Amino acid sequence: MNYVKRALVLTALIAFAGCSGGGSGGTAAEDQVYLIKFPHVTAPGTPKGQAAARFKTLAEERFPGRVEVEVYPSSQLMNDDDSLEALAFGEIQMIAVSLSKFDRLTHAFQVFDLPFLFPNLDAVEAFQYGPAGQELLDELTDRGFKGLAFWHNGMKQFSAPRPLLSPEDAAGLKFRIMESDVLQAQVQAIGGNPQKMALGEVYQALQTGAIDAQENTWSNIYSSKFYEVQPYIMQTNHGYIGYLVAVNPQFWAGLPDDLRSGLEEVMAEVTEWGNDQAEAINIQARERVDAEGRNEVLDLGPEQLALWQEAMRPVWEQFANDIGADRIAAASGASSN
Ligand code: LMR
Repeated sequence: MNYVKRALVLTALIAFAGCSGGGSGGTAAEDQVYLIKFPHVTAPGTPKGQAAARFKTLAEERFPGRVEVEVYPSSQLMNDDDSLEALAFGEIQMIAVSLSKFDRLTHAFQVFDLPFLFPNLDAVEAFQYGPAGQELLDELTDRGFKGLAFWHNGMKQFSAPRPLLSPEDAAGLKFRIMESDVLQAQVQAIGGNPQKMALGEVYQALQTGAIDAQENTWSNIYSSKFYEVQPYIMQTNHGYIGYLVAVNPQFWAGLPDDLRSGLEEVMAEVTEWGNDQAEAINIQARERVDAEGRNEVLDLGPEQLALWQEAMRPVWEQFANDIGADRIAAASGASSN
């Protein structure tokens, strides 16, 4: 099924699951073991991979014999698109999907994709922990996704077959992007040709030339080995990748109260732990790419970055109505603090 058709079917299915109360929501029994299947798409060493593994460890340590968490990293079980559908239907119980990929379900998360809105993870966090950010956790509860937390990956960099020093250098290149209309507009704004694609397909697409370039965090560039097939990597920090950690609302409501609140405490602890080390993991990933010695890594300076910022700025106006001026103001206000 092509991407657009699949997206429409998924949207309709999820709307149905949200209305019909799809999900497993079990009756609480003393001896019941609750299974949390938690698939995700990145490698175990990434910020998300490490946080998911820690959630499993702490949850099972605190609630022995009452909860079992099965983490499936690296798209082993399914890609993100399929996991949205599977969560809404209660086939899996937990996800941590990139905020960009909720695009067809809500416009609210598009704020996270606006280019050059957040200068760093501190600015993202100031927004996420403020009232405008916290209300986003509940944005999709009615549609089958109860948000528990936001997890960071990090800031995005471009990689390409040639140096991208100014936006004009991107003209005509086919860029893989996540499933987001804002990212599509961002690439169009620099004259590129955006292609929405699942993470698990990107390496081969770069290798065969089906696409030319991509944007991602250092930890994804390293763990997905994009550095093997992309000679140039530009440190631009032009955008953010982070996740909504969500559960199926019926499943969550069906947990015994003590278990649910205990798991929410574990999630809060893991979120703080994971978000505190996300930046260091990305710095280390860059060092590992450097150590491989296969790439030219270009650190763009403030004057060069100003040109990128200017070229991409129209994207803000394009999506202002959909996202909401107040939300954008809250996010940029948080960034300037
Ligand atoms: C991507 O598809 O590039 C990202 O969503 C991967 C991730 O989950 O960090």
